[in-house]
Amino acid sequence: MTKVAVITGASRGIGAAAAVEFGRRGYAVVVNYHSRKDAADAVVEAVEQAGGKGIAVPGDMRMRDEAAGLINAAVEHFGRVDTLVCNAAIQVKRAAFADLPWDDFAAKVTDELAASYHVTQLALPIMREQRYGRLVYVSSGMAEGPGAPDMIGHGTAKAALNTFARYIAHEEGPHRIIANVVAPGYVRTDATAAAATALRGIEARITEHSPLRRVADPVDIGRVIAMFGSEDCSYATGVVVPVNGGIMLAH
Ligand SMILES: NC(=O)c1ccc[n+]([C@@H]2O[C@H](COP(=O)([O-])OP(=O)(O)OC[C@H]3O[C@@H](n4cnc5c(N)ncnc54)[C@H](OP(=O)(O)O)[C@@H]3O)[C@@H](O)[C@H]2O)c1
Repeated sequence: MTKVAVITGASRGIGAAAAVEFGRRGYAVVVNYHSRKDAADAVVEAVEQAGGKGIAVPGDMRMRDEAAGLINAAVEHFGRVDTLVCNAAIQVKRAAFADLPWDDFAAKVTDELAASYHVTQLALPIMREQRYGRLVYVSSGMAEGPGAPDMIGHGTAKAALNTFARYIAHEEGPHRIIANVVAPGYVRTDATAAAATALRGIEARITEHSPLRRVADPVDIGRVIAMFGSEDCSYATGVVVPVNGGIMLAH
């Protein structure tokens, strides 16, 4: 039986790298994207070259009906949902608290949680029936506190996501469903390309101060997601796993 992984926001960055890792493990991978079909199609090709199967499915994960479309596509094409990776990158509005309007703060927190809430609630009945499921939530080191300036909305949203995931792990464990959080530090992706310019020198500082002396690439995170999202994870649940090259050891 081919196992099936659904990954939100898998057309680029961390989600795309995770998709290829699942492909390497022989999974059928449902590659969700928001707007970039061409990028998602390229990821499907990479998944198949790695040894898996794939389909690209559009959908804004903040919307219940579009999340339903994603889960339905997985079931129609592949018959199951073994793994759900909630990774979609919800837009970050950078601002100091004093300058951050309530509407922007509320939108970030709500959108971040909506993008995990709907798709999780829709996948769980399938996983319960299978008596097997792996949920991985992609959070951030920012959940622990200010790792960079002007990220209060993002950090607060990701902290809420960590707690959400622990409740899921607690409720769903009796159904043999495991839920964990992968919390990257800074990773070189499209999302950080702008920040790297804005925060001149961030990559140089990481290279100098982190024990591994380099900046993370998406594959560094994708490998950990695949481990926690597969049978390799059988007895860890409700944990938040920092994947940051040991940068916290420098403080
Ligand atoms: N990069 C970092 O340094 C870093 C650090 C810590 C945590 N993270 C977290 O890692 C995750 C992935 O980030 P990334 O850096 O890989 O991002 P990225 O390279 O900018 O890719 C973003 C992905 O999310 C998709 N997406 C955006 N809005 C969506 C929505 N509403 N519904 C479904 N998909 C949506 C995009 O689809 P399209 O291609 O169609 O636009 C794309 O596939 C995020 O949760 C982010 O917060 C990243």
